[in-house]
Amino acid sequence: MSNKYRKDFPFFKAIDKHKTKENEHLIYFDTAATAQRPYLVLDAMSHFYATANANPLRGLYDLSERATIAYENARQTVANFINAKETCEIIFTRNTTESLNLVAYSWGYSHLKTGDEVCVSIMEHHSNIVPWQQICKTTGAKLVYLECNKLTGEISDEEINKKITSKTKIVSVVHISNVLGVTNPVKKIAKKAHSVGAIMIVDGAQSTPHIKVDVQDIDADFFALSGHKLCGPMGIGALYGKKQFLEEMPPFLTGGEMIEYVTQDSATWAELPHKFEAGTVNAGGAVGMAAAIRYIQNVGLDNIAQHDAVLTKLMMDGLKKIPHINFVGPDNAEKRAGIITFTVDGVHPHDVATLLSDEHIAIRAGHHCAQPLQAYLNIPASARASLYFYNTEEEVQIFLQKVANLRKWSGYKD
Ligand SMILES: Cc1ncc(COP(=O)(O)O)c(C=O)c1O
Repeated sequence: MSNKYRKDFPFFKAIDKHKTKENEHLIYFDTAATAQRPYLVLDAMSHFYATANANPLRGLYDLSERATIAYENARQTVANFINAKETCEIIFTRNTTESLNLVAYSWGYSHLKTGDEVCVSIMEHHSNIVPWQQICKTTGAKLVYLECNKLTGEISDEEINKKITSKTKIVSVVHISNVLGVTNPVKKIAKKAHSVGAIMIVDGAQSTPHIKVDVQDIDADFFALSGHKLCGPMGIGALYGKKQFLEEMPPFLTGGEMIEYVTQDSATWAELPHKFEAGTVNAGGAVGMAAAIRYIQNVGLDNIAQHDAVLTKLMMDGLKKIPHINFVGPDNAEKRAGIITFTVDGVHPHDVATLLSDEHIAIRAGHHCAQPLQAYLNIPASARASLYFYNTEEEVQIFLQKVANLRKWSGYKD
């Protein structure tokens, strides 16, 4: 796969057109934070607002019906994308963070009690830690961490069997780590969770842009994803939940649109999925997210994985030849899904990012919203380059040339 997709993106089209010298266009290696958006997504959203802008699900006139249809079609697209059994199992949220909070506050709050345990992995993003900390504090449940191998990022069977026990009520694990790049064996973990009667939640923020996801095959009870990580707009995401759980859960937010009937002192809830979508929905965002999913499906998730693999190997092979580079997580490119995290001896990761920024390369540096992992690995911070199908081999080569100079620019002789 070449970089033929860049012309689909206003961002890349503009920089590719305006670059003056070969090395002077911005190299965007921060897709794990947020992906770029193709014209198609922006067009789908502006078409929605130009032709179907009314409050969906409310009006009895044609325009509102058009908005409702566009919104519900988007839900169907998300359901197909992750192979949900029924469309009503998809709840639109703002993002992965809100999806995880929804499960924590609704299912967690109503089911957990003192003596119960919630099991997450040590490599979770804060969005899959902090809500559980809060719920555990209120309910008296205990938060338990699945630890991973510090070099390979692997969570062993032994660890899974030791930490997931009859006390465990919830297991919530990231599918692909935003720091280590590893893919966790979520299907195996789900099987173990179910064997002890616990529910299984998967954080799919980083997996959905890179690999085919089948929530039924994983047997996830809940699965969270964000639109903006897969070339969609910001402010829209989704939660998949098995119907049997969603039906018995109390609502997370209450107000308009999520009710069936309201009296002066009580209310009954709307059917799924609307029970969990209080207030005016982000229909434009949902339409944009669906367009992004269709775009990614057209590019092909197999092609994306293959392109990730080629660029990741090129980058990691190159980094291995540069002295003083240390990988955070496995040094095996096959394990990393386009996410390469590293440190440079003697150069603070923030300086790595700033020096590279001066060279028109955008990478992420810091704790990557995974401070418990950084503490576990005993590193205060790290630098992360994250790749996608719109990145090129040429960009990786330029990156490697610049990284090779980082220590020299920081005053070191070797
Ligand atoms: C693994 C993982 N989980 C959750 C999130 C949170 O996603 P959002 O900010 O879209 O809610 C991120 C974002 O970087 C992530 O990488």
